[in-house]
Amino acid sequence: MISRGLVNTYHNWFDNYIGQFLNKYPELEENIQIKADHCRKVAKEIVGIAQSLMLGEREVLLAETIGLFHDIGRFMQYVKYQTFSDSKSQNHAELGVEVLKEKNILKDLTEDKREIIHKSILNHSKAEIIPDSNEKVIYYSKLVRDADKLDIWRLITEYYMVKEQKSARLSLEQAGPTGGKNKTLELELLDSNSISEKVIQAILNKKVVLKESLKTLNDFKLLQIGWLFDLNFEYSIKRLYEKKYLEKIFKTLPRNEKVFQIQRIVDEYFEQHIKTFTHEGSC
Ligand SMILES: [Fe+2]
Repeated sequence: MISRGLVNTYHNWFDNYIGQFLNKYPELEENIQIKADHCRKVAKEIVGIAQSLMLGEREVLLAETIGLFHDIGRFMQYVKYQTFSDSKSQNHAELGVEVLKEKNILKDLTEDKREIIHKSILNHSKAEIIPDSNEKVIYYSKLVRDADKLDIWRLITEYYMVKEQKSARLSLEQAGPTGGKNKTLELELLDSNSISEKVIQAILNKKVVLKESLKTLNDFKLLQIGWLFDLNFEYSIKRLYEKKYLEKIFKTLPRNEKVFQIQRIVDEYFEQHIKTFTHEGSC
């Protein structure tokens, strides 16, 4: 049966697993630490969402486990290929499920719970959730997709802000050969001023931007803004709004009519949902 004690052993296992990578690949420490920190924070975010939905203790613990392990494949992916781009390497969600199976981490859980964890991990990074007759798979997949997005917004806004400050303060020479950039986090995309038409059209229609359409770093930022329309729970929308993550991303984009148009759609979407929150709050 899942318990606090068991989930604590998962956290300990996770810390040891990361420790092994850090020992073996000290030169890759920065990005290993970024991803490890992300996994731990997604575990916290998913607990926040699960609690807002008044789930029971065991359901919250199962959600926490999925959050912690959702990106466990990232470490093997990174040391093997030195990229976080699945298309340039291997699907990191599939790799993660392989790691969990191979190390037999979830041996103390029932087959039913293992299935929910594996399938939620496989679904977390897909453009859309794969249809499944097990409603729990769909539900936990929605939870981890929201939690993952919330923490990626935290991570990238911190990163974009530091990067902007660095480039404002330092000349390229002073900032070093990379100019303060982390090309791996930027998926090695071109940092030019342009935005691809396919990406703009997808967002204007509130559709998921496909990774295949990405050509520039601005396209990637817009893909991340468009995740708003894919959030599943009101709590997540409210949290995103309160943290002002999208406002911060908009500040790093070129100021032109297309970007303003997207900003208006985002504002309207928030307004509609915030009205719902206010209404709920007043009942
Ligand atoms: Fe993630």
